[in-house]
Amino acid sequence: MLKIIFFGDITGEPGRKVVKKILPVLLDSEKPDLVLANVENLAHGKGVTVKTLEELIRAGISGFTSGNHIYSKKDLSDETFNKYPDKIVKPANIPDTYAGKLAVVLPTPKGDVLIGNFLGQVFMEKQFHDPINSPFFEVESWLIQNNPKNYAATLIDFHAEATSEKIAFGYFLDGRISALVGTHTHIPTADAKVLSGGTAYITDVGMCGAAGSVLGVKKELSLQRFTTGSWVPFDIPEDASEAEISYVIISIDEATHKATRIISRHQVIKLHE
Ligand SMILES: [Fe+2]
Ligand SMILES: [Fe+2]
Repeated sequence: MLKIIFFGDITGEPGRKVVKKILPVLLDSEKPDLVLANVENLAHGKGVTVKTLEELIRAGISGFTSGNHIYSKKDLSDETFNKYPDKIVKPANIPDTYAGKLAVVLPTPKGDVLIGNFLGQVFMEKQFHDPINSPFFEVESWLIQNNPKNYAATLIDFHAEATSEKIAFGYFLDGRISALVGTHTHIPTADAKVLSGGTAYITDVGMCGAAGSVLGVKKELSLQRFTTGSWVPFDIPEDASEAEISYVIISIDEATHKATRIISRHQVIKLHE
């Protein structure tokens, strides 16, 4: 049985800190074959950098997925995609002018694992200004190009806002990939399950980031936007004393490529004693 741990959107320094604190315990207790994470918010809440990605690689995470914010620090994100093309996967349904590979293959003791990443279209227009092609359309050619039967397991991160689009994509891919994990909303959903065709599914894994925040950013700034209607820049509470950590643990039969179990966990952890 191939076991994968997947962390939801790791958001800024509090997210990196809580993952680095908990991962050694999880590696010991769960003995996963592969650890993955969504890193669109890794560097101070927006985008990814070589330095922040390397922090996670040193901690034991070997594969990374993206989202609408992954190119927010454009040059630094491009540098990261170019330095680690075999570790970080880009959304497959955005223009090909963006850096990164559409599929990444990660070796494990139980066989190679294929990972992919797609953006949803519903309510995402304001979040990603270039056209997002239909994930339902684009995933068909992705599956032809990267035949999941050639791998021990295939996991896709569906980075999307609408719960309906996410579960529909889950049913669309049921039986064709081993796992479809949702990200982007930063709020974990209580619907982890193995669909009837053998695909592990969750609408949203949730985030790893500051507790007492709004989706990982300082709550005062978010409240200011809502109460005054005026735009203020967001910031990460870097000195947060507690952080949320959200992840799923997925078991996959590498012979059939089907999932047998998915469990989701969400905890609040003290960062300073
Ligand atoms: Fe995010
Ligand atoms: Fe996102």
